[in-house]
Amino acid sequence: MNLKGRHFLTLLDYRRDEIEYLLDLAIKMKKGQVRKSLKNKSLAMLFQKASTRTRVSFEVGMTQLDGHALFMDMSTTQLGRGETVGDTAQTLSRYVDGIMARLYKHSDAEELAKYAKVPVINALTDLYHPCQTMADMMTVIEKKGRIKGLKVVFYGDCGFNMFNCTAIGFSKLGADVVACCPNLPSYSLNEAVMAKARKEAIGKISVEHDPLKAAKDADVIVTDVWVSMGQDAEKAKRLQELKDYQVNAKVMAQAKKDAIFMHCLPAHRGEEVAADVIDGTQSVVFDEAENRLHAQKAILAELMG
Ligand code: CP
Ligand code: NVA
Repeated sequence: MNLKGRHFLTLLDYRRDEIEYLLDLAIKMKKGQVRKSLKNKSLAMLFQKASTRTRVSFEVGMTQLDGHALFMDMSTTQLGRGETVGDTAQTLSRYVDGIMARLYKHSDAEELAKYAKVPVINALTDLYHPCQTMADMMTVIEKKGRIKGLKVVFYGDCGFNMFNCTAIGFSKLGADVVACCPNLPSYSLNEAVMAKARKEAIGKISVEHDPLKAAKDADVIVTDVWVSMGQDAEKAKRLQELKDYQVNAKVMAQAKKDAIFMHCLPAHRGEEVAADVIDGTQSVVFDEAENRLHAQKAILAELMG
């Protein structure tokens, strides 16, 4: 498998066998069965939004691969003073071997990729968070031994980055994905994205508005914050409209006995998830967080190696 020089913007751009190859490599690297090196290679990390996991896992990942990562707060770069994304991409490409970016608008990530001469890795935009879904799929393989045939139910905001990538990635690898959201446009599926996802899916992508019905016989229950970065002005409205979609003990009781609970983090206990669920025995949220490191090391090594 040769992925050298490819961008990693959405899981739509990668075939099933390519995703499976990367997940398998990540698991082998985590176990110490494969060692990769990016000696003397540098990754620029452009951040327009806050981050804990993404920043640290990419930076530590580059260190573990013998390379180097540069943290760039976008507001303190010339981008913050009006330099274009295209000029920034071309300039950075003269110094570094890869660019990782966390941006508000996905179109800016596409613009960066258009002008960059090195791989661009999407570290979250409004539409996609593919590195998180890679870590999530890796976690499900570790916990369940497979993805194919599982039922994955996502609660809450099903119109944003985390639902999009969960639906694309898990359905491509053969899980059925259920969106459990209010019947309101703000939280409903992005049909343009879902049309692309369904083209390549083995599993089904469906909608169930009833939170208890949705969880029936689920293998994996997933949620994300109700107020994503950039949505703070709508906070009160969103908390009100999503209040019936909390993942709590009643929801978990409908799922299979051995179901796992997933959340990309950061979490808001008492909002999208009850404390006893996220802190309970079915929760695998810190395995997901750890797997960001391993999944991204596989991606970095293959794209930049
Ligand atoms: N899950 C995730 O991307 O976390 P951060 O926002 O902390 O990077
Ligand atoms: N949907 C969340 C994910 C955070 C990792 C956000 O965009 O803020």
